[in-house]
Amino acid sequence: MDRYAVVGNPIAQSKSPLIHSAFAEATSQSLSYERIESPLGQFAATVDAFRRAGGSGINVTAPFKLDAFAYATERSERAREAGAVNAMKFDGDRIIAENFDGVGLVRDVVVNLNCSLKGKRILMLGAGGATRGALAPIVAERPAVIVVANRTVQTARDVVAPYAATRVVACGLDELGAEQFDVVFNATSASLTAQLPAVSERVFAANAFAYELAYGKGLTPFLQLAQRAGVTRLADGVGMLAEQAAEAFLWWRGVRPNTAAVIERLTVPLM
Ligand code: ATR
Repeated sequence: MDRYAVVGNPIAQSKSPLIHSAFAEATSQSLSYERIESPLGQFAATVDAFRRAGGSGINVTAPFKLDAFAYATERSERAREAGAVNAMKFDGDRIIAENFDGVGLVRDVVVNLNCSLKGKRILMLGAGGATRGALAPIVAERPAVIVVANRTVQTARDVVAPYAATRVVACGLDELGAEQFDVVFNATSASLTAQLPAVSERVFAANAFAYELAYGKGLTPFLQLAQRAGVTRLADGVGMLAEQAAEAFLWWRGVRPNTAAVIERLTVPLM
C-alpha cells in the first residue's frame, strides 16, 4: 500500500490525515496517510527516513515549508513563486516539490464560493508565507489591483517585488487611508492568537467579501470586524484546506476527489 504523511511540528492538530483518508475512500484508492512530527532542525533526516521506509509523498506544514523547499531536487513554478513547499512526491532519488496553498485558496473563492476575482480590488492583509503562496494564483485571476498591506511595510514591499510589472502594490496597515476593496483576505497570523490586525472597517466596499485564511476558529476578530462593517459574505479557510489537499491528491494519484463532504465535515459555523 502506498504511504503518505503530513510532516510538521506540532502535528497532532493536522486535519490532513482525515481529509486524505476520506478522499482515498471516496475514490477507491488504496493508500495510508499518517502524521509525522519532525524534531525542529531535522526535517531532512525525518523525510529521509520516511523515504527509506517506502514513503511515496508528503504534505508539509509549519514550520517546515522553507526546509522542504531546500530539500527538494525539483521545484514547480508555483513552489518557486511562493518560495515555499507544501507537497512533495518521491521517485527514487527525485524529490519533486509543489505548493498548492494558493491554488487551493483561489479555487475555494472562485469555484466553491462563486466569487470571481477578475477586475476586483483586492486587499491582502499580511505579508508572510500565506501571502507569498497566494499571490501568484490571485494575480492569474486578473484582478484590477492587489494591495498587500502589512504591519511591517518593508516585508510587504519584498513580497510584491517580483510582481512589479502588474498591479500589485505594498503599503503599511496604517497607510490604507480611505481606499475600499471588493475582496479582503486576512493572511496574517493574528487570528491564531485571537488578535485583530490594525485595519479599519472602512476598507470593505459595499457588497464586499471577507475571507479569513485560518480555519476552524469561528468568527475571528477579523470576520467580526467585517460583520460590523455590514459585510454579509464571510468565509474562513476550511475550503482552502480541502482544496489544496485535493490538488495534492490529484497530483499523487491522478484522480481529483470531490471536496464538498470534507468541507461540510470540517466546517465550524461562523457565529
Ligand atoms: P504565515 O506563514 O502564517 O503567513 P508568517 O510568515 O510568520 O506566518 O507571517 C505572519 C504575518 O502575520 C506577517 O505578515 C505578520 O506581520 P509582520 O510582518 O509585521 O510581523 C502578520 N501578523 C502577525 N500578527 C499580527 C498582528 N497582531 N497584527 C497585524 N499583523 C500581524
